[in-house]
Amino acid sequence: MNLKTNLKSMNRQRVIVVSNRLPVSLKRGGTLWHSRATAGGLATAMHPILRGSDGIWIGWSGDTSTATDESREAILEEWKTKHRYFAVDLDPETAQGFYEGIANQALWPLFHHFPSLLRFEPEHWLAYVRANEIFRDEILKHVQEDDLVWIHDYHFLLLPQMLRKARPDISIGFFLHVPFPSSSVFRIIPKREELLQGMLGADYLGFHTYRYLQHFRTSILRLLGLTSQMDHVELGKRIVRLDALPIGIAPHQFTDLLTKGAGTRNQLAEIRQRFGYCKILLGVDRLDYTKGIPERLRAYRKFLQDYPEWHGKVVLIQVAVPSRERVPRYSRLRREVDELIGEINGDWSTPNWSPITYLRRNLPQAELAALYASADVALVTPLRDGLNLVAKEYVACKSSGDGVLVLSEFAGAAAEMGEALLVNPYDEESLSSTILRALTLNETEKRQRMMALYKRVHKNNVFAWGDRFIKNLTTAVLTRSEQPHNEPLLLEKAQLVSAFNKAQSRLIMLDYDGTLAPFAPLPQTAVPSQNLINLLERLVEDEHSTVALISGRSRADLERWFAGIPNLWIAAEHGAILWSPISRTWEQPHRDASHEWKKCVFPILEHFVDRTPGSFIEEKEFSLVWHYRMADPEFGDWLANDLVANLDHMLAESPVKAVKGQKTVEVKSLWANKGQVYSRLMLVDAAPEFIMAAGDDVTDEDLFARLPESAWTIHVGRNESRAKYYLSNNDEMVALLAQLLEPDDTTTVENSNLLTSSEHALAAKI
Ligand code: UDP
Ligand code: G6P
Repeated sequence: MNLKTNLKSMNRQRVIVVSNRLPVSLKRGGTLWHSRATAGGLATAMHPILRGSDGIWIGWSGDTSTATDESREAILEEWKTKHRYFAVDLDPETAQGFYEGIANQALWPLFHHFPSLLRFEPEHWLAYVRANEIFRDEILKHVQEDDLVWIHDYHFLLLPQMLRKARPDISIGFFLHVPFPSSSVFRIIPKREELLQGMLGADYLGFHTYRYLQHFRTSILRLLGLTSQMDHVELGKRIVRLDALPIGIAPHQFTDLLTKGAGTRNQLAEIRQRFGYCKILLGVDRLDYTKGIPERLRAYRKFLQDYPEWHGKVVLIQVAVPSRERVPRYSRLRREVDELIGEINGDWSTPNWSPITYLRRNLPQAELAALYASADVALVTPLRDGLNLVAKEYVACKSSGDGVLVLSEFAGAAAEMGEALLVNPYDEESLSSTILRALTLNETEKRQRMMALYKRVHKNNVFAWGDRFIKNLTTAVLTRSEQPHNEPLLLEKAQLVSAFNKAQSRLIMLDYDGTLAPFAPLPQTAVPSQNLINLLERLVEDEHSTVALISGRSRADLERWFAGIPNLWIAAEHGAILWSPISRTWEQPHRDASHEWKKCVFPILEHFVDRTPGSFIEEKEFSLVWHYRMADPEFGDWLANDLVANLDHMLAESPVKAVKGQKTVEVKSLWANKGQVYSRLMLVDAAPEFIMAAGDDVTDEDLFARLPESAWTIHVGRNESRAKYYLSNNDEMVALLAQLLEPDDTTTVENSNLLTSSEHALAAKI
């Protein structure tokens, strides 16, 4: 089946959704259990996808009662048969360590940039691993060949890899609903490598924003040494696609309630009547320290202090949904908020007016819609938030454009809601003055801002988000087979030699360090052996062979060692300059190349030299290299990742790139790459019958990638590579060159068939 046909049929692939919470929960009423629907953004997004694909949803039952209970069993059974929801039970110890421990006291605070709240207990980690394994086993019970498994959120960072190990064939997508922290924060968590490896088990990884994606890329670079592209990371044979796709909402749910829901309309009228004389500020949050509720309350207090003319004319309605109350930080927050509200109302209330109306409970959507519609200003001011749906829900209820969204710049939603009044929620004074600005914004500007937001929220809705995720996951899996990477096979030298001998024209391209010569502690001491020089001299003697040495070395080194070999093409600095034995000159394809970047990069490399005993900088004409072969290996590798990450960031907009090589970090222009040299050599002989390229370093991959399928590509060393074949080390490679020069027995035999019988007799005598 081709890609297009596959894409057409992808909607029929069954989707298995996996999340910590199911869209239903168990509730005990007396001795009996009841089922309660928990309306949430995720359920809205998943329902059409599940319906359209006959899919299933796997999640935690959310309850740890171990005794068998008939009414509980009956509910779980009904979930399965009626809704296709499969509840996973966790024993109390696992649930506690997994949910309250790692998920909500380690990952949640750290991912939201609250490292001081991190609590990481080894037994919690074991429970987290166990819970991920239990979910893996449940998925394995259901999963079939063509299913798409869509895993959600930080509760299951290990699950993609666990599943991948058990079923390498299946399609796995993962979406992170919380922020991915900057790598300097992420690296604080113990087991950080395991967590990253776990995520990389997926075929497709989604984040809300490009910033989170960038943080993830930097983390895998710094901690796992994996370089990645903006949209993918190559793991040998596998490619993991990366994407930023912010979740949306289902705006019609809110607009329908406002236009058709009698309850909502009545409530709206009531709110208007009750607060008719006041402007309404609205906050709607889970009671979570990331939401910035105390900071918002303090800013509101300052507003009341600074602008007394607003007393009696403004009210803040704060909805706060109790959450994760068994975690101490959450119960502390609840007390803190209670106290602050008590203080503010106590200080400023009059018999006719209270500055804050506090609703500490979970409101149904019908009531929320009425609040959103009546609020003049929404204060969505989290200290950090993966996205924040409340911001979008508020906007969805503002079809007339009559409302102002005050939005924290630390909410993921800020990346796509630039028309909101963006604030720094930590800055009390600025938040207070932004409240004033929101309350007094002129009508035209208010409507312009809100209508732009309104259109976007309607367009980028949750259904578009879900469809895009499934489409991209499907495509990621379909293009697996088109991936260029294969594990190289051990080269059968005899086959290569035979092809070499049969060909009438040949092109041979050879890297030097690590390919033809072993590495030496200092680059200048890796001098070629006389044996190698002799072999090269004999190879270039054949007029049917074009031989090129393509190295990252400087022109000076290569000239010193190889200029005496006639007919040898020599590419220095990865092809930035090329010695042509025909014109007997050094060709320079990018004569006007600027070296300005060296001025900025040099001090950074110097800084790394200062920090790393045994390392040094090599300056070449077109590149700078930080060598750390003589440094402590682990420390050197760690710093090299760090250096590449720093330079990546710094050079993002420039045509210069940092590449981690064999104990080096080389900074060079993108145009200087070995693949280019092949194009130049094609001008000498456009269609050689035999092409061979050998190399050991990442820079040789550019050349392998450029060559036709028929080429003999050889990676020296048994690493992952685009090359088709490998040889274990440079001695093997040099031995291969020697074999190419041995007399060709097969030709003698073949030619001997053409001899007459008397010539045979003569040949036998000879
Ligand atoms: N919500 C609700 N009832 C409430 C308060 C909030 O149903 O009383 C919903 C709200 O409509 C939104 C979700 O809870 O869909 C909160 O999502 P958000 O992304 O803002 O924050 P989270 O709680 O996921 O961190
Ligand atoms: C955030 C997380 C969700 C989580 C929700 C409520 O939105 O990203 O995965 O379900 O908060 O938290 P809770 O711990 O009550 O499930």
